[in-house]
Amino acid sequence: MAFDTALTRALGIQVPVVQGGLQWVAYAELAAAVSNAGGLGIINALTQPDPEHLRQEIRKTRSLTQNPFGVNITLLPALNPPDYPGFVQAIIDEGVKIVETAGNSPGPVIQQLKAAGVVIIHKATTIRHAKAAIKLGADILSIDGFECAGHVGESDIASLILNSRARQELGDTRFIASGGFADGHGLMAALSLGAAGINMGTRFMCTVEAPIHLNVKLAIVKADEHQTSLILRRWKNTSRMYSNQMTAKAIEVESTGANAEFIEVAPIVSGVRGREVLLHGNIQHGVWYAGQVMGLIHDIPTCAELMERIVKEATGVLSGLSQCVMKARRSRL
Ligand SMILES: Cc1cc2nc3c(=O)[nH]c(=O)nc-3n(C[C@H](O)[C@H](O)[C@H](O)COP(=O)(O)O)c2cc1C
Repeated sequence: MAFDTALTRALGIQVPVVQGGLQWVAYAELAAAVSNAGGLGIINALTQPDPEHLRQEIRKTRSLTQNPFGVNITLLPALNPPDYPGFVQAIIDEGVKIVETAGNSPGPVIQQLKAAGVVIIHKATTIRHAKAAIKLGADILSIDGFECAGHVGESDIASLILNSRARQELGDTRFIASGGFADGHGLMAALSLGAAGINMGTRFMCTVEAPIHLNVKLAIVKADEHQTSLILRRWKNTSRMYSNQMTAKAIEVESTGANAEFIEVAPIVSGVRGREVLLHGNIQHGVWYAGQVMGLIHDIPTCAELMERIVKEATGVLSGLSQCVMKARRSRL
């Protein structure tokens, strides 16, 4: 089945599936594999230590695929913020034409990129934030439902409602559905809700090309939809993680005493430990992002196998639905 949606047209891709920017996972190998399979692969800027390394990673991705790919820039509050203008300049200099932005106050970054003709996909967990991003110049919204891995926001609105609200509220602005998607059934559901495609994180993390330890992928295959935990709500930075002994500790600190300070939980939720999990495969060692969609993930395919399967399932869903409508018409006659 050939897809022709506002997303495939806007990005020049064949299948309306985007691989979200995944910290410590979204390197050239994964992004290129997704783009080669007809979707949009994305590399993560802040996974690189500095703008120069991002340049190298962009060049590496380009050497692995001739298809479009993007770069994710995530703007989170930090005591020592990364060199955002430097990362953005590297993206522009290297001729990347699609950027996924996420997080707080993306205005300056969006402005700098738009001036260079870059298409902006901005992630939002509320309609209010989506509208604000459109005002700032975002071209496409990635509407992240509460099911999603990572930063779920503070409103807890799941994908079904959030994407339907996006259809009602965002006018002509295109949006993709994110959070809880893993297969062709989800893709067709998203298109039915008015989305122009889907974004997947946890599903792509569990593919052959994702450059992380096999134990992490096996843990995702083994887990079901109950095995995520929400941490850091007290600090309005709610994050959905794979449930393990470290998320349990974080929740214990967070929920004991009204005066729990971030400094108490910081060593438990440290990004360094989370990265070590992905590198070395001890899944209890730190906190790491995963979504409820783990319940739908039962294998570790290549990106090409996964995308082919998604297209095949989507085709099946479409013909099944048209049969339903035809049957309903016949039974009325
Ligand atoms: C390991 C991992 C790392 C992630 N890192 C980022 C990130 O750095 N920036 C970002 O915008 N989103 C990040 N996300 C969120 C994904 O891009 C995507 O929005 C989310 O996974 C969608 O939900 P799903 O996992 O149900 O598909 C991450 C997700 C995972 C699983």
